[in-house]
Amino acid sequence: MDLFEYQARDLFEAHGVPVLAGATATTPEQAREAAERIGASSGGVTVVKAQVKTGGRGKAGGVKVAKSLDEAAEAARNILGMDIKGHTVGTVMVAAGAKIAEEYYFSLLLDRANRSYLAMCSKEGGVEIEQLAVERPEALAKVEVDPNVGIDDAKAQEIVDAAGFDQSTGAAIVPVLKKLWEVYHDEDATLVEVNPLVKTEDGSIIALDGKVTLDANADFRHPEHSELEDKASADPLEAKAKALGLNYVKLDGNVGIIGNGAGLVMSTLDVVAYAGEDLHAERGGSVVARPANFLDIGGGASAEVMANGLGVILGDEQVKSVFVNVFGGITACDEVAKGIAGALESLGDAETKPLVVRLDGNKVDEGRRILAELNHPLVTIEETMDGAARKVAELAAKN
Ligand SMILES: Nc1ncnc2c1ncn2[C@@H]1O[C@H](COP(=O)(O)OP(=O)(O)OP(=O)(O)O)[C@@H](O)[C@H]1O
Ligand SMILES: [Mg+2]
Repeated sequence: MDLFEYQARDLFEAHGVPVLAGATATTPEQAREAAERIGASSGGVTVVKAQVKTGGRGKAGGVKVAKSLDEAAEAARNILGMDIKGHTVGTVMVAAGAKIAEEYYFSLLLDRANRSYLAMCSKEGGVEIEQLAVERPEALAKVEVDPNVGIDDAKAQEIVDAAGFDQSTGAAIVPVLKKLWEVYHDEDATLVEVNPLVKTEDGSIIALDGKVTLDANADFRHPEHSELEDKASADPLEAKAKALGLNYVKLDGNVGIIGNGAGLVMSTLDVVAYAGEDLHAERGGSVVARPANFLDIGGGASAEVMANGLGVILGDEQVKSVFVNVFGGITACDEVAKGIAGALESLGDAETKPLVVRLDGNKVDEGRRILAELNHPLVTIEETMDGAARKVAELAAKN
């Protein structure tokens, strides 16, 4: 889960990372009040910042300096509702203005390829960091961080030395990097990025911007993280699936897909996409059949899980047909068949779309027998994965 900047700021603060005062607002009036609390009325400068989960806010006009309460309200009026790379701004953060002397870059992330963590640091931070990484990669220090050790004094020193900081600046940054490690480790993050990490005119080091991604696999250790979820903009079907404990990702096609095991489901997406392309090549025009979702009901899925999954998929209005592709291992095919029968009964025909079912493996004969006896007009049984993909694509294109 990616966090908004203001949420990252709050996490940083909780772990002792130096940050600026900041408060969120969803109206210009609230922004004015926030600016007043933060000190704009006493001559302080504030910065009004779009809260969207994408980069490049400053370049898009989503970060504005305000020298008075009126200017803060005006900046919020301009930024709220703005579209930044497809994200509509619903919230701004009003932050205290910093007197910046220098802007640096720091990030710590999960390096899957090397099964390790990676710290990146540069003396040249700010809004052009992507360009720097491409044009002068040598200016961006990369230091491996052992997950079992983390960023201690020695590692922090190694990072600031690799980035080329002078001794006194390096000494000021070291404790901040140790705190950022604490955020990364204690919160089970996969990314903590600070761009810019600034040195102010009086020499203090402050995290001026923060991007944090939390590892959803560690949610069980952090019940408090559920409060950070952006429920307003969550896809309703994904939210429903999550509440049911299903592994569902909405895509934009018209063929619903259910399978057991992530690998099988991924290859099911592929065969359906290929079948759709073939169909389009043969028939041309507006004939389309593409996967509408990823849904893995997992190993050992019960009839109830099958029924829940079908319920979620059929809730997607774009879905015209559904491919149930199960290889029975721990999940026995008779359970799957019972799940399909149960789902059809509870959903009712009006809510159901044509289903193409391919069962194989553990108890396949029982599974097929249950479906054959059901003899439901909307259910087609196919023996092979490719045959089923072709059939389900045809049904989607027809409906
Ligand atoms: N509180 C502040 N005080 C002074 N200057 C600020 C403040 N916040 C941001 N700035 C200036 O605005 C620039 C952009 O801010 P910030 O890094 O938050 O947004 P961004 O980098 O454009 O967004 P993103 O990180 O999403 O790409 C900073 O590099 C800094 O120069
Ligand atoms: Mg930034």
